[in-house]
Amino acid sequence: MMKALPYTLFILIALMMLSCETDPPNPFDVYNQIPVDTNQIDVSATSIEGLYKNIFKPTCANSGCHDGSFEPDFRTIESSYNTLVYHPLIKNDVDDPIDYRVKAGDHQNSILYRRLTKDLGGNSGIMPLLIDPGNDWEEKKDEYIKNISDWIDGGAKDIMGQTATIVDRAPQMTGFAAKKPGSNPIYPRDFGNGSIIIPFGEPTIEIYLGVSDLESPISNLSVISLEISKSRDHFANAQVYSMTYLSNPPSEIGYSGQNVDYQFRATVDDPDNIWDLGETAFARILIQDPLQNDVTMIPGRFSADHLKIYFSIQLQ
Ligand code: HEM
Repeated sequence: MMKALPYTLFILIALMMLSCETDPPNPFDVYNQIPVDTNQIDVSATSIEGLYKNIFKPTCANSGCHDGSFEPDFRTIESSYNTLVYHPLIKNDVDDPIDYRVKAGDHQNSILYRRLTKDLGGNSGIMPLLIDPGNDWEEKKDEYIKNISDWIDGGAKDIMGQTATIVDRAPQMTGFAAKKPGSNPIYPRDFGNGSIIIPFGEPTIEIYLGVSDLESPISNLSVISLEISKSRDHFANAQVYSMTYLSNPPSEIGYSGQNVDYQFRATVDDPDNIWDLGETAFARILIQDPLQNDVTMIPGRFSADHLKIYFSIQLQ
């Protein structure tokens, strides 16, 4: 027994040393040794991340500019992408109007490129309108503009490297109006609630709808029906009318206060037989966009009250 003691001790000590030796590696050892600054990740100058890092963030998203004050929103890579690619624009080029801020594959027809190279209408200024001290825009302008046009022509890829695809938006309403047939002005709206006021005793009235759609020509849209109901939200007992497409539409004041084209018209005979004096009726229009599966309802079931009232008519 005593003879075995030194061996036992030896084995015990050996085991203890082994267990001391085999601690698992500390995963943070690597990071401590090689600090990684994710902002310094090498991104291609013609990628959305590179454009954001080199141009949008330092030169466009400065205070009071595209920092949420004005569109496009260059605060983040995502906001830059989402407010540029296939995004409608606010100020167009009157000489040669286009549709999008960035049209993938086509920098010449992208307002982003034009605003950096052309003073629209001679009164808009070329971006950036102001340059902060120490900024490298003036020095690198040509290179940066080339990076932007290369990104656009390369398919305006997103952060995942996916080429941009056009998103077909539903037709949007630009105005709703009514008037007496012939070259008469549109009927006014009630100052109080905004309904269209139709004088009692008109044998026939015309009801007009203005729409916009960036992806589908308006002539390709088909109005399934104009429905007029005495209830704001229930159309089961609505009067139903067809609407005709007008290739030479009248231009009248629209929902945004600017003049718009009214491309669809319906004729309503004997309104006095449909609504009582002082009564309000509510309209809704069903439109089929050939590029869309679903029928678009204007205003929709869940549209805001003020929009449903904008689509209402009162006999006075
Ligand atoms: C290279 C950096 C910049 C780029 C790429 C850029 C791009 C643009 C684009 C594409 C628009 C047109 C948006 C539309 O109409 O839909 C625009 C408008 C505008 N930008 Fe910039 N911008 C830059 C820098 C700046 C700076 C630094 C300021 C502020 C000093 C600024 C102020 C404005 C304003 C006020 C508008 C709206 C008025 C207008 O259309 O002229 N931008 N910008």
